[in-house]
Amino acid sequence: MSIRKILATASAASLLGLAAVGAAGAETIKVGLVAPFSGPFAQYGGQMYAGIKAYFHLHGDEVAGKKIEIIRRDTGGSGPEIARRLSQELVNRDKVDFLAGYGLTPEAMASAPIAERSKTPMIVMNAATQSIVEKSQYVARVSLTTGQGSGVIGHWAAGEGIKTAVTLVADYGPGLDAEAAFKSTFTRGGGKIIESIRTPLNSPDFSPYMQKIKDLGPDAVFVFVPAGEQSIGFMKNYQSRGLADVGIKVIGTGDVTDDHVLPAMGDEALGVITGFHYSVAHKSPENEKFLKAFAEVNPDSGQANFMTVAGYDGMDAIFQVARALDGNIDGDKAMEVLKGMKINSPRGPLVIDPETRDVVQTEYVRRVERIDGQLHNVEFARFPQVKGDGDVSGEPLAM
Ligand code: PHB
Repeated sequence: MSIRKILATASAASLLGLAAVGAAGAETIKVGLVAPFSGPFAQYGGQMYAGIKAYFHLHGDEVAGKKIEIIRRDTGGSGPEIARRLSQELVNRDKVDFLAGYGLTPEAMASAPIAERSKTPMIVMNAATQSIVEKSQYVARVSLTTGQGSGVIGHWAAGEGIKTAVTLVADYGPGLDAEAAFKSTFTRGGGKIIESIRTPLNSPDFSPYMQKIKDLGPDAVFVFVPAGEQSIGFMKNYQSRGLADVGIKVIGTGDVTDDHVLPAMGDEALGVITGFHYSVAHKSPENEKFLKAFAEVNPDSGQANFMTVAGYDGMDAIFQVARALDGNIDGDKAMEVLKGMKINSPRGPLVIDPETRDVVQTEYVRRVERIDGQLHNVEFARFPQVKGDGDVSGEPLAM
């Protein structure tokens, strides 16, 4: 046999060997990351992935002797059909061990039945409608529910003497949850809702709603819109329509003052008060470590935000599962590990509710302030262990 032939045979054999290992899934743990990476919500996937990269930067991409392989799939927007097809392909063809990501509620809702049928753990890294966790027993959420921030800010606002509010929410799952949770705590505290406005999920024009709110003249407008471009759109219209000038305050969930787009806002955001689970201005050693790692591996990603943290924490959850199962991922066993799991998050302590598989976490009340020339959500009070419905009571704790 010629030397060339021997070498060719040897490398073919080693290639075959590698292929066999890959097919059995023995060497890697595969994670399918389904989210928008293009279109109007492109930053959602980008931020989650940036968070995962930050996690790998600090902890490596190997756990229990296996390498974590991330397979990114772009849904391109808010539609459920593409997300469902991508999740299905990831399960059937790529044989992923975990589904993860899900920026928007319709993506998660459409994909949960696939997790259920295939017994694939599905780690939700954003989609925030409370009922998502009920759609499959293989869903666990590490992000938020919109009810959490909304219930907290309703309770807080009523306690601060805000008497009347108009609500404005995006007209789909997380918006309707936000509206209901705010209404519940705000009216219980003595507040009155004058009007409830719902805006389209895609490309809303806020200006006519702003005029209406101005005419109604409430003490405050409570808002939930999907973070990003709509946060900017809402705040710009609030300013240009002169709501601030007539003393109507903005209160809401932290999506409207999303850390990632806050630097692109102007003084109109100053003083906006929100209820939320994460701020880049959160003071803790974990957050400092996270932000440093984020900046080192994502030099062009701008500022981190709550979706970055959810990607980071979601990867921590996957590492914890892999360690507990010694790298052999089984759907049912993985869910047992996820139930009651604690994560020492950059946002503060987080636990996955053993009953609902939903995130239970500290919610902060924050005010937008300018620090060293940059706008930040500065936390000044907190409610610990808030569940998905955001039903809080009593006095907030000091920071
Ligand atoms: C959602 O679709 O569930 C969603 C999207 C953007 C957010 C929050 C929730 O900022």
